[in-house]
Amino acid sequence: MTATAAISSLNWSEDTLRLNAVCPYYTMFPLDFPLQQLAAHAEATRVLDPFCGRGTTLYAARLAGLPAVGIDINPVAAAIAQAKLVRVTPAAVVRLARTILEGGDQGEVPEGEFWRWCFDESTLRELVTLRESLRAMTTPTSVMLRAVMLGILHGPRNKGVPSYLSNQMPRTYASKPAYAVKFWKTREMTPVRVSTLAVIERRAERLLKAVPLAHGGKVYLGDSVQTLASLRQNFDLVVTSPPYYGMRTYVSDQWLRSWFLGGPSEVPYGSHGQIARQPSQGAFIEALAQVWAATARRCLPGARLAIRFGALPSARTDPEQMLLASLEEAGAGWSVTDVRHAGTPPKRKRQAEQFGKAGSAIEEIDVVAELADQPR
Ligand SMILES: C[S@@+](CC[C@H](N)C(=O)[O-])C[C@H]1O[C@@H](n2cnc3c(N)ncnc32)[C@H](O)[C@@H]1O
Repeated sequence: MTATAAISSLNWSEDTLRLNAVCPYYTMFPLDFPLQQLAAHAEATRVLDPFCGRGTTLYAARLAGLPAVGIDINPVAAAIAQAKLVRVTPAAVVRLARTILEGGDQGEVPEGEFWRWCFDESTLRELVTLRESLRAMTTPTSVMLRAVMLGILHGPRNKGVPSYLSNQMPRTYASKPAYAVKFWKTREMTPVRVSTLAVIERRAERLLKAVPLAHGGKVYLGDSVQTLASLRQNFDLVVTSPPYYGMRTYVSDQWLRSWFLGGPSEVPYGSHGQIARQPSQGAFIEALAQVWAATARRCLPGARLAIRFGALPSARTDPEQMLLASLEEAGAGWSVTDVRHAGTPPKRKRQAEQFGKAGSAIEEIDVVAELADQPR
């Protein structure tokens, strides 16, 4: 099987693309980046993203009719990405949620001011029951319900029917508890009762109205170098985006979603295994080099590697030089065929613009490399 021509997201209806937006994820790249790479490498048969985040590459591969494998060390990313490979009906998702909720209360409700202000008491009770049940489930329907829950967990309070379960909060990242409580208290914003099942139902209907066929693949939760070493398949197209240099908030900004997946009910400030957590620029380049080397070992001769990379302005560094140095240091047979500034595709935002508070002047580049016929 090879990729069907898939130049831009404008080739698909909005309904077909909705599942890709099941839950926002910090520094997600636009769907058009992997779609363009798939179009440029129409001979591709199996796609890999070793830093898959919310699974944008996996969804692009699915649209192009190809299986794809994603790896991410962040449980929130892996949970969202898994849903990108699943095909279930909205009715199945709602049925599972209803069965869980009708099965009676489960799990311990977290205590403290934040929780009392963030969710209405009954809504929180439902949330905790769903959290507890879903932790042990691995079926495709549970994967989808989990991703839907992550997407509706927090967001703005709208005027009409609610779209989110929380009190007023951004949808892209979770506010820190002290800040959030102060915000709600000063505005006297007490949480309103939101029916979890009703929000799930509306969201599932919208997301799954016209999902494309699934074409297989898998998402692994773990470190990319270690996971790649344990894989058996070979790939001929890799489209990825490592953490931008200087970016360290993947875990703490997603703390409420991490809690829903079984994490602690406080903000975790560590960032276990995150590649961006290196003591120096040289160590970061070396860590990236290891990923490119491990990727090469799982790729067929002639495979393409397309990377979008950037650096926060505060990091005061040249992302192009860093990335090229990491490919060189990998010594794995990747030869660079194209380097360019990340394009601004029509009607879609650049990844940098989604950093919001991190600043908008991030320099982003796209690098394409090809694996030598005889990998080293
Ligand atoms: C720029 S984001 C990828 C975003 C993705 N392209 C998307 O559209 O959602 C980089 C990802 O690398 C992950 N990551 C960081 N260190 C990792 C490691 N050692 N192994 C696997 N994934 C890692 C982060 O958790 C983050 O999700």
